[in-house]
Amino acid sequence: MNYKLDFSALLFEALDGKLEKNKLFGMIEKPKYSHLGDLAFPCFELSKQYRKPPQTIAIELANKIESPLFEKVEAIGGYLNVFLEKQPVSNLILVSVINKKNHYGTSKVGNGDVVTIDFSSPNIAKPFSMGHLRSTVIGNAIALMLDKCGFKPVRINYLGDWGTQFGKLIVAYKLWGNEHTVRENPIKELLKLYVKFHEEAEINPQLNEKGREWFKKLEEADEEAISLWEWFKGESLKEFSKIYDLLGISFDSYNGEAFFNDKMENIVEILKEKSLLETSDGAQVVTLNEKGLPPCLIKKRDETTLYATRDLAAALYRQNTYNFSKSLYIVGNEQSLHFNQVFAVLEKMEYQWHNGLAHIPFGMILKEGKKMSTRKGKVVLLEDVLNEAIWLAEQNILTKNPNLKSKKEVASAVGTGAIIFHDLKHFRQNDIEFSLHEMLKFEGETGPYVQYTHARAFSLLRKGQYEEDINSIQIKDQDNYTWEVIINLMEFPEVIEKSMESYDPSQIAKYLIELSRSFNKYYSSVRILDDELNKHSRLSLVHSVTIVLKEGLRLLGIKAPEEM
Ligand code: ARG
Repeated sequence: MNYKLDFSALLFEALDGKLEKNKLFGMIEKPKYSHLGDLAFPCFELSKQYRKPPQTIAIELANKIESPLFEKVEAIGGYLNVFLEKQPVSNLILVSVINKKNHYGTSKVGNGDVVTIDFSSPNIAKPFSMGHLRSTVIGNAIALMLDKCGFKPVRINYLGDWGTQFGKLIVAYKLWGNEHTVRENPIKELLKLYVKFHEEAEINPQLNEKGREWFKKLEEADEEAISLWEWFKGESLKEFSKIYDLLGISFDSYNGEAFFNDKMENIVEILKEKSLLETSDGAQVVTLNEKGLPPCLIKKRDETTLYATRDLAAALYRQNTYNFSKSLYIVGNEQSLHFNQVFAVLEKMEYQWHNGLAHIPFGMILKEGKKMSTRKGKVVLLEDVLNEAIWLAEQNILTKNPNLKSKKEVASAVGTGAIIFHDLKHFRQNDIEFSLHEMLKFEGETGPYVQYTHARAFSLLRKGQYEEDINSIQIKDQDNYTWEVIINLMEFPEVIEKSMESYDPSQIAKYLIELSRSFNKYYSSVRILDDELNKHSRLSLVHSVTIVLKEGLRLLGIKAPEEM
């Protein structure tokens, strides 16, 4: 059910095949104002090719194109505007949505190709920050969208569980730590130690040297170092799972940086074999001058490895294990240089698959315009934020709908939904100001607003004792309220594909707001239940809206309660 496709096929014929169908399809727009029709084809590009004024071309095309589903085709100001035949189109759309249900908008473009998605990837022994939330929710939505479009996503949580910082943490623990307090409150205590280390190291830089020594011990599998590290890691994972459970997110692999400890020597060997390794200042590097990039550090002077070394090993491992066609890294803007370097080294190693690697960056969460930094302890703990959101959602339910059955469950869906939606509605590369107040608003452009719209539509179905029957859908309404909703429903598959292609869940979020708005207008202006004759068809529209809202929310990782 795609009228753009029909239209592009008709254009293709009318132009005697002079422009490709795909290209034509891509040129079709939605007119700025609804009185200009439902689809528009700009004739300006053709005007150059044909050396005729655009309006002349539009008129010629208008005379050639007709379809039983087009009410009229008009040439206006160099555009060819199509007005769809409202009744048959409305019926076809509703039948299609209700037939396909949650598969409406599903496609096979991905061909079963594997896409690995490296996302969330928090650092052990540090709290799960608001920054990691962005990676988590964006990555999850991208995985869901890819899956919907026929790709095979592999979700990888590349835990930050290796590196000099663990040397530092061990030093801090040995100097100032206390087993009992850490056991009581692991993440907060470990963070305190980490922050103290950095404060003390400013006065006493020798501490840094100590930190490096202990990381070296860790890489050499020193017993004491390993056992402390395992303890810190176990405690962290417990905390992280609480958050993933709240968000309803799971992973296919938790192979973090430490997993690659014994796989880095291999990378170093290959680099040597390919004569790519150079010594600089005692360290081993791959130069990337020709790419305009600083050299990529592979081994430090003391032979310890780096973040980049581990990422090289991980990329190779992922290709060998999953045979990916694309490999995505959902990581903040500030790591762009790192990924450019890693990708450039893999290109120099002449791995064909380097073309499939992509860093999908996103902006920061700012507090009063400033970056939140773990080192200085200026973090807001995600778990606290989630719990507060859930608590607020519960208060809201208690006042508005005290008789609701599964209050806890709904509160959890709404509270987490608010936070996820707040993040995803912004284009990912923009910075977001952290504001609990904004996140938890239950009106306006928010997750709870979409969820509420869905629940409201659902209650209408219950009240009207709706029973599904696609054979008796006969929409007679031709008013703008109905038509806006129909057009929105029609757009869903395209919105999914576009947001998938640009790895941009905000397009789905914005779409859901739009559909909710048009549905709420419909709801307040069309008498859905009062008119026996039209009731079934109108409820079929309501049903279609619930299907699309629920599926759209699902693609963002948000639940859609039937009552709230
Ligand atoms: N743990 C890192 C951080 O918090 C993010 C890891 C991203 N993924 C990767 N393959 N480098 O900054």
